[in-house]
Amino acid sequence: MTLITKKATINNNEHIVLLCTKNYNFNNNGFSKSEIEFIKNELSKNDKKHIFINQYNRCVFIQIIEDKKEKHLTIDGLRRAANTIHTNIVESKLTSINIVDAENKSSETLAFAEGLALSNYQFLKYKKDKKKEEYSLKAIGIHSKNCSQNQIDELQIIVNATSISRTLVNEPVNFLNATQLAKEFQKLGKEADFGVEVFNKAKIKALKMGGLLSVNLGSQEPPTFSIMEYKPKNAKNKQPIVLVGKGVVYDTGGLSLKPTPNSMDMMKCDMAGAAAVGGTMYAIAKAKLPVHVIGIVPATDNRPGENAYVPGDVINMYNGMTVEMLNADAEGRMILADALAYAQKYKPQLVIDLATLTGAAVAAIGTSGIVAMGTADEKTKNKLKESGYNTFERIAEMPFWDDYDELIKSDIADMKNIGGPYAGSITAGKFLQRYINYPWMHLDIAGPAFLTAKDAYRTKGGTGVGVRLLFDFLKNN
Ligand code: BES
Ligand code: ZN
Ligand code: ZN
Repeated sequence: MTLITKKATINNNEHIVLLCTKNYNFNNNGFSKSEIEFIKNELSKNDKKHIFINQYNRCVFIQIIEDKKEKHLTIDGLRRAANTIHTNIVESKLTSINIVDAENKSSETLAFAEGLALSNYQFLKYKKDKKKEEYSLKAIGIHSKNCSQNQIDELQIIVNATSISRTLVNEPVNFLNATQLAKEFQKLGKEADFGVEVFNKAKIKALKMGGLLSVNLGSQEPPTFSIMEYKPKNAKNKQPIVLVGKGVVYDTGGLSLKPTPNSMDMMKCDMAGAAAVGGTMYAIAKAKLPVHVIGIVPATDNRPGENAYVPGDVINMYNGMTVEMLNADAEGRMILADALAYAQKYKPQLVIDLATLTGAAVAAIGTSGIVAMGTADEKTKNKLKESGYNTFERIAEMPFWDDYDELIKSDIADMKNIGGPYAGSITAGKFLQRYINYPWMHLDIAGPAFLTAKDAYRTKGGTGVGVRLLFDFLKNN
């Protein structure tokens, strides 16, 4: 993982990125006359935002901070700009780079460092010749008066946690089955110091978690139900905040089988909600945030094995309700329902679930943001949206009107697991709502969880979406 440190001094043989506005006075910074001429030319005539100067004993990149129409756009512009410079850094085979905060702009500097570190993520576990493909960059220094040691330590934690979450998503199911996912949470708990309890299939059966068990019927691998808990002595909340993550380690669609191209072939990502919950638990525990948080992950693969549940089956859920299962590919809501009902026992202040739940969410807003809905109060919703802008894991709230409840009515059971042809992400949310009795937000991350092409610092494959968002939210509330 990329090391991020605070640096009091930078020697003149160390590579730097000078972060400044276009009005910066380049005269007093050891640049030669011809270099200053070059810089001015690039800025005025060519309107450049990145300038590269190859000095005798070091590389100097100049990154211009541009004011966009809103602060969060300026900040994300810098994360994205860092990705462009990252390409130059690794092409030049540099092993370290130092960001010089020339005009005391600490949030811009941290955002740039964040974009650079997130761009440096790679998943090379299964490559024979790792060394050949590995990026050269190993260390990022931050030279800044206003960035505190604490902020830099926190940035390191957030980047590490996002990388952990990305890797969990990128791992294929032939390594990361439900049992392995639970083991990964146990490892994270040991490393960051939070508690992890894992229910095995026998315990899940004893608890009568019919939603999770029914999805698991077509699989050769047992399900797991993981409960993570971080409870510091100085927690500010009396009732816990509960995070629930969809842990479908692979979604074939079950008997309602998915087609392969651009559909089933990506479905190792169907535990991205679980990965976000694990990554967030890791980050808040490492950073020792004063907040009591519980993370719950129901996990299984969804397969069309011999014994698989069939459309038309009626399932007895954990909370005693019945579901007429009419599409085996709407499995996420089946397992989440049990987890959300289980969460009631904690009398939570707030529950947030994260799930790659519906193709309809992708159809609605693409990969740019998170589709959200829920019953939390306006203040909580606004805080969550604010964190969405802070981290650029933006949130689009859907209507959650009673009308949609009609669409999941069943003739023979308490509800069915599909709605009509429209508003698919909302009817999925409406299904989940039947299992809660507390303030709740549902985040459908089907769009941004997994990218088929990189988008600047959001690398191809798992993005780790949710970790930065929830960390920011839990820290500021
Ligand atoms: N895991 C999928 C949703 C998904 C789609 C995630 C694209 C990531 C990218 C989910 O289990 C699913 O298959 N949902 C169905 C529900 C439908 C059958 C009611 C869908 O959205 O098509
Ligand atoms: Zn599905
Ligand atoms: Zn799914």
